[in-house]
Amino acid sequence: MDKIVIEGRRPLVGKIPISGAKNSAIKLMAASLLTDGELRLDNMPNLADTRFMADLLRRLGAIVERPEPHTMTLQVPEVVSALAPYDLVRKMRATFNVLGPLLAREGHAKVSLPGGCAIGARPVDLHLQVLKALGAHIDLHEGYVYAQAPRGLSGGRIAFPMVSVGATEHALLAAVLAKGETVIENAAREPEITDLAECLNAMGAKISGLGTSTLTLQGVDRLLGTTHSVVPDRIETGTYAIAAAITGGDVELVNTRTDLLTAFLDKLRAAGVTITQTQGGFRVQADATQLRAVDVETAPYPGFPTDLQAQFMALMTVANGESHISETIFENRFLHAPELMRLGADIHVQGPVATVRGVRTLEGAPVMATDLRASVSLVLAGLVAEGKTTVNRVYHLDRGFENLEEKLTGCGAQIERMKESQTQEA
Ligand code: UD1
Repeated sequence: MDKIVIEGRRPLVGKIPISGAKNSAIKLMAASLLTDGELRLDNMPNLADTRFMADLLRRLGAIVERPEPHTMTLQVPEVVSALAPYDLVRKMRATFNVLGPLLAREGHAKVSLPGGCAIGARPVDLHLQVLKALGAHIDLHEGYVYAQAPRGLSGGRIAFPMVSVGATEHALLAAVLAKGETVIENAAREPEITDLAECLNAMGAKISGLGTSTLTLQGVDRLLGTTHSVVPDRIETGTYAIAAAITGGDVELVNTRTDLLTAFLDKLRAAGVTITQTQGGFRVQADATQLRAVDVETAPYPGFPTDLQAQFMALMTVANGESHISETIFENRFLHAPELMRLGADIHVQGPVATVRGVRTLEGAPVMATDLRASVSLVLAGLVAEGKTTVNRVYHLDRGFENLEEKLTGCGAQIERMKESQTQEA
């Protein structure tokens, strides 16, 4: 398995281009199932997760092409199979979101349950609630969801008991073609949901309430192809903002927007980091000796994103003072804490709260990546640690960070990937 080796303590200086949002891209790809027209997605990241989704969509009948590095075209002239098998769905939970569009277009679908995940139980009960509210008949057998709606889906009221990004997106993807009106209450408000709704509207859907917690859809008979540009990745943006801050650097993040991560940037400023708006993004500057401890609590958007919790914890390990980091979205999302401690961090985890006491320096060591966001927090810590940090199992990083090493070396970091063959020889 590939490893990443970092020689730390080099301030990052330069520019980092931000890619399109992974979490948006894979749901936009699922939207291609709703039409026989061509969906062209610009600002499309090139990641393991987008390739998993493309593999699954091809199996279902999609023609997926990349005419340019950051453009993807998808067209599904007809659905050749309404079966999403376990071997493809288990690789990435978000592939489960093909269930709604398949059901809407074909009247039936069989999709594998996504299975377990390192960061918690992550059930799909809310997704199934959506489909039942739209009139589908659902059965579970041998690890598969069998969904039927022979006369098509019909609009309904979906009142979520808790905020779920995936289930809200699933509701949009299923209800656009349902007969009549659908109202989604307690909808998630993440920018990726707005991005999906905007793309669906460009395809001919009638969705209102974008960006609010109540979304209303008037069902339409058919959708058409369109061209859509994927929203910038706010998690990648926040991650590189911390890379700049933790190394006491000066980095401009380009092709991104501050309004996508207001709560996060407020915390970064409170930690002593200077954020300045620029033409196509913003600039991050910090004095690494002056970083201050700040408490954070994760929450659904517009709150502090759970997907930046691990990275912020890495920053807090070298800030002056004691911070408390509370995780409210996922249980078991502190898998990075023991790995950060291997680098010399002082962290005490009790239930959903981690107490971090800033230390003067971290020291490089071999560490193990456990999940996508946890892995990148280890890279961030490696950037500031004294000596060499080796991050093992980096395939997690390839799921969500495009050209990570290139983007960081472009700003002066010393970071190198050792391919599996090299690590075997070494
Ligand atoms: C999405 C993001 C992920 C992010 C998360 C929260 C993608 C591909 N992934 O994940 O990066 O960390 O939002 O911002 O977009 N839940 C249920 N039942 C369900 C569905 C969810 O109980 O049917 C629970 C989950 O276990 C979790 C909480 O709801 O505790 C929020 O999960 P959700 O918002 O659905 O996350 P995902 O869509 O899986």
